Amino acid sequence: MNMPPRRVENLHTDKGKVPVYATGIVDQPWDSYSAEDHGVWKVLYERQRALLKGRASDEFLQAQDAMGMSPDHIPKFSDINAVLEPATGWTLIGVEGLLPELDFFDHLANRRFPVTWWIRRPDQIDYIEEPDLFHDLFGHVPLLMLPTFADYMAAYGRGGVKAHGIGPEALVNLTRLYWYTVEFGLIEQADGLRIYGSGIVSSAGESLYSLESEAPNRIGFDLERIMQTRYRIDTYQKTYFVIDSFQQLMDATAPDFTPIYQRLSEQSAIPAGDVLASDHVIHRGSGEGWATDADA
Ligand code: PHE
Ligand code: FE
Repeated sequence: MNMPPRRVENLHTDKGKVPVYATGIVDQPWDSYSAEDHGVWKVLYERQRALLKGRASDEFLQAQDAMGMSPDHIPKFSDINAVLEPATGWTLIGVEGLLPELDFFDHLANRRFPVTWWIRRPDQIDYIEEPDLFHDLFGHVPLLMLPTFADYMAAYGRGGVKAHGIGPEALVNLTRLYWYTVEFGLIEQADGLRIYGSGIVSSAGESLYSLESEAPNRIGFDLERIMQTRYRIDTYQKTYFVIDSFQQLMDATAPDFTPIYQRLSEQSAIPAGDVLASDHVIHRGSGEGWATDADA
């Protein structure tokens, strides 16, 4: 997409009235944020920064500092881009919400990260089902400052375009990898276990639960194992997978997945909470409080 986007309509949503382009991209309507919106950002930003010190990976925290986000107001995407693009070639684009899969993959492959422009309401501070600006910007964007992770995300986008061409089962396998790394990944740092997944760093409850609760399993990263594993979309995860380094993630995902998709198509999925004999178990979860309804 090298053409300038063409504005097609004014979209009316419960979040406001925003110009939308043919591509589904919106200009961040920064002037339209209310004092309440900026206040929600401030509350979430300050609470998570305090919680994440010593809990999020040092690389995440340093990258977040380097991007120049502050609690005082919702960042402008253009200000973030001025730092991010020179660092790793990534740019943020505003979107209304989740994109069709292929569009999402294409953006990632071209180092464009879609960020939801609107922020949750004050009564949604602790939980919101769909990704909002806080999840996308506070949670996902900092790691795009790291060359290794930046490359991983672009490779994931190219892999997504490929998986989309192979078929729906391949996409399910690939989505599980995204879920258990980009969204809910843990990393073993020299001084202990830390968080890097965006779904965790943007949630106060899960920031504590993922690291400190006895309930969930914590298992060493294993690509094919992850690609077979179901996950939770509406509760904390039953299992977290732990990488040693972002380089491990790069190296493990570099090979062509086509034969893996082929192999996995003959195997059944693993329930979210199961521990296998072949797992490198870092912590075996007590299972306390686990939901008993079906995993996604
Ligand atoms: N190597 C994967 C493939 O061939 C692509 C990929 C890279 C997927 C990085 C995820 C992360 O499909
Ligand atoms: Fe996300």
